[in-house]
Amino acid sequence: MKDNSAKRASFRSSFGLLVALAGSAVGLGNLWRFPYLMGTNGGAAFIIIYLICIVFICLPMMISEFMIGHASKSDAVGAFRVLAPGQKGWRVAGAIAVLCSLFIMCFYSVVGGWTLDYLFKSLGMAFSDVSEGQCAGIFTSMVVSRWEPVIFMTVFLAVSGLIIWAGVEKGIERYSKILMPLLFVIIVIIAVYSCLLPGASAGLSFMFSPDFSKVNGGTILAALGQAFFSLSLGAGMVLTYGSYVKEGENIPKMSLLTAISDTCFALLAGMAIMPAVFAFGLSPSEGPGLVFIVLPEIFSKMVSGDIIAIAFFFVLFVAALTSIISMLEVVVACIAEEFRMKRGAAVLLTLAFVMVFGILCSLSQGVLSDCLIFGKNIFDLFDYTTSNIMMTFGGLVVVIFVGWKMKKPDVFAEYSAGGKFVHPVLYKVLYFLTKYVAPVAIAVIMVCGLIK
Ligand code: PFF
Repeated sequence: MKDNSAKRASFRSSFGLLVALAGSAVGLGNLWRFPYLMGTNGGAAFIIIYLICIVFICLPMMISEFMIGHASKSDAVGAFRVLAPGQKGWRVAGAIAVLCSLFIMCFYSVVGGWTLDYLFKSLGMAFSDVSEGQCAGIFTSMVVSRWEPVIFMTVFLAVSGLIIWAGVEKGIERYSKILMPLLFVIIVIIAVYSCLLPGASAGLSFMFSPDFSKVNGGTILAALGQAFFSLSLGAGMVLTYGSYVKEGENIPKMSLLTAISDTCFALLAGMAIMPAVFAFGLSPSEGPGLVFIVLPEIFSKMVSGDIIAIAFFFVLFVAALTSIISMLEVVVACIAEEFRMKRGAAVLLTLAFVMVFGILCSLSQGVLSDCLIFGKNIFDLFDYTTSNIMMTFGGLVVVIFVGWKMKKPDVFAEYSAGGKFVHPVLYKVLYFLTKYVAPVAIAVIMVCGLIK
């Protein structure tokens, strides 16, 4: 096996690694997608199914992806060259994961731009005195505009490019260490404030008392797809970050902590949003407009709503930023290592691609809304193809590789960092989930996703 470790960047500390992983996982998926999916899929019942998916499918998958990166010390394509020499098919699968990150960035950066735009709007007190229904107008006129979202998207991408340019330790690790704890504190404050509003208890019982009569096949699919997206699985992120991890790291523990942080953050986001939605008599099943239309309306009615709005959109912007830098790292690491390109050039090349397709995604909300491919506009096409097909495919490849291709003693050695962490029963359970449960479950979602 080729040893790539000597020349590679690495995370300096376990805490740095954890906040970087959590920074990738915590993003628009938690703050924008999770609350509205929960709202439209029956609240608590959705949460329970989501948690089951995380434990039995996503966690073994995350550990597997981590392990491939850690064992190979290589980018998402190179990893399979190192671990399965001469077998091109695996490398193609790695390349699909890198493309998946690249394509997610194209629509994610558009929403990232919206968050920045809303941060500026809230700093300018745009939501302090809005009347009923006005927030929908503000949102629509922003997304259909030609220039406004593109300008904010450009700034959003430029900031992420600068962080990635600075490198793993001086960029990703350094900023995640500052930003992630800050996000956590702000979202806790907003959640406490929201839970103390008169009438908030209806929102809490919506989140925490399950009604299984609302559960159907669609709920399970939605929960699993969301768990995938939220933990950034199947897009090469965990693999790439895993390749920057020094020997002796406890991979199962780090994965578990990342999943716990991400889930806590999603629940906190729900607790920041749902009690307020119920307290002001608005609908929890508003869909994607929940964060950009319903929340500003609530902020305009709240005491100190202006400050809460600024804090909330700051959280949304930073969460989106730390997620996009992780996708950028997947692509930049791959281009830089596979084509022996300088990191700066790889960053510029990637951003140029994302800008072009990001502009198309943005315009597809307005002037290009009639341009449909397979019945979807460009934004939805990128979203659907990556979340429903490419990420699931990437996840499937990863568990099959670890469960069926890697040798069992090598897998157990990675679980236990060469025998340091001894939990043989736990490792057997983990291996069983990886080898049988996760692939079957993912194959089922893929088929259901394709025929939906
Ligand atoms: N997990 C991120 C979120 O919840 O917003 C999205 C994401 C980040 C997906 C990184 C894929 C990825 F590689």
